[in-house]
Amino acid sequence: MPGDLSGWRVLVTAGGTREPIDPVRYIGNHSSGKMGLAVTAEAADRGADVTLVTTVETVDTGATIIRVETAQEMAESVWGLAPRQDVVVMVAAVADFRPAAPSAEKIRRRDGLQVIELEPTPDILLGVSEKAPDALVVGFAAEAGSLDRAREKAMTKGVDLLVANDVLAEGSGFGTDTNQVTIFYPDGSTEPWPLLTKAEVATRLWDAVVRVRQASEPRQ
Ligand code: CTP
Repeated sequence: MPGDLSGWRVLVTAGGTREPIDPVRYIGNHSSGKMGLAVTAEAADRGADVTLVTTVETVDTGATIIRVETAQEMAESVWGLAPRQDVVVMVAAVADFRPAAPSAEKIRRRDGLQVIELEPTPDILLGVSEKAPDALVVGFAAEAGSLDRAREKAMTKGVDLLVANDVLAEGSGFGTDTNQVTIFYPDGSTEPWPLLTKAEVATRLWDAVVRVRQASEPRQ
């Protein structure tokens, strides 16, 4: 609905993080950032004051843009901004592991086969629920195949709503302009949505967020 997010402060993350191996290589993923950009554009259109923390280049969507590369940079940015937000939407595909000791110099072929030791990255979403207990938090889960794990994430990640998709399903893969998602609520209820454009998913998502927020507001 036009203007229904006016006065809301909203933080969105988008894209896949890149975790350096050396100055020229990284561990990354196939996230295009399109879903996060659609969520950002829709919120800005509906009047929200939006900040986008992104690993990908973006056109002007009316949001304040903060560019980051790694999970650590995204965590610092998001955790710093989260306490001032009404809604945080974590669309980004954040790496779960990063090289423990990235090389300062380019690793050479002549150095021979390398074993890259990994360490866990911070769970940004979990941190948001702790640092911004009053914010409404939306998580995303890109699953490959069954969505069983998404139901568990909706109950354990401290989110008010979880948007899950099967990246192997037709029309729902990385980089597509469409997405078929299922919404999971912490009480265990679910809503499978049809195959939609990412812009349509964003519209329905903000409609759902408005409903959840209204339901949690004390009645006058
Ligand atoms: N996420 C995060 N920080 C991480 C990893 C993920 O904030 N280090 C967020 C993502 O932005 C997403 C949600 O958590 O909103 C779910 O991400 P996902 O990778 O599906 O969850 P994991 O708990 O990492 O589960 P899995 O073992 O399936 O990777």
